[in-house]
Amino acid sequence: MTRRFAPGSIEAADLLSGHVEGNFSRVLTRLLAAHAMAEKLTAMGYQRALDSVTRPELCTIIRKNLAEEHKHARLIYAALADLGVSEAQADRSLVSALKGPSFAAPRHFAEHSAGELDLVMATVSLDVTGLIMIGVNYKESSYAPHARAAELILAEEEEHELFASNVLRDAAEHLGAEPVNAGLREWLPRAVNFFGPPGSGFTFDCITYGLKARDNSELAELYLTLLQRRVQQAGLDMPRLTQDYPHALA
Ligand SMILES: [Fe+2]
Ligand SMILES: [Fe+2]
Repeated sequence: MTRRFAPGSIEAADLLSGHVEGNFSRVLTRLLAAHAMAEKLTAMGYQRALDSVTRPELCTIIRKNLAEEHKHARLIYAALADLGVSEAQADRSLVSALKGPSFAAPRHFAEHSAGELDLVMATVSLDVTGLIMIGVNYKESSYAPHARAAELILAEEEEHELFASNVLRDAAEHLGAEPVNAGLREWLPRAVNFFGPPGSGFTFDCITYGLKARDNSELAELYLTLLQRRVQQAGLDMPRLTQDYPHALA
């Protein structure tokens, strides 16, 4: 697969003036819609966490992350608006995707999570994965507005990832290894599936257009390697997963 557009080489005006083939806009719009939705659902999850977690030292960081996830969602929806796509239109384009395995983790955080253990698992599942997606794929996007937004988001997601590894270690100490291991077994398949299916036609288009750098399966592997280290450092057990997408417990 070769990329046809260099990092940061396309601006909104290039798309609006019709200088780039129409399929580029369609693929980009879908990618941005999915990115915006993931940020929005993560913000909703942090809002739920704020309502259900009581330890003050955690609440301070939850408030910070919540404000930042809102900002990330706003940035990406603003990029969509520049292409003439409203938030409602973007969200509507994802109706069926939202029911699939790639959105199970952010949806679970937004709709069902409650309490400290879910917060810990969600941040390990969403902030660490988000950091990889944005750092590896979007930072070098051929679409300059997405690359610029990714740069801003990345600095904050690096802090979220640090928070994730700290709370994972704390949870193992506070709550004991058993419930945290159970949480990992519940959340890890969802977290890995967040990257999406391997080798899809959509990702092929994204890579060809320079909107992504790597296939979903490569990112998923990167995530598992990183997480395995964190899990071992916290004295926890890394769950074993099935090979094929959507991944489940082995
Ligand atoms: Fe974010
Ligand atoms: Fe985050």
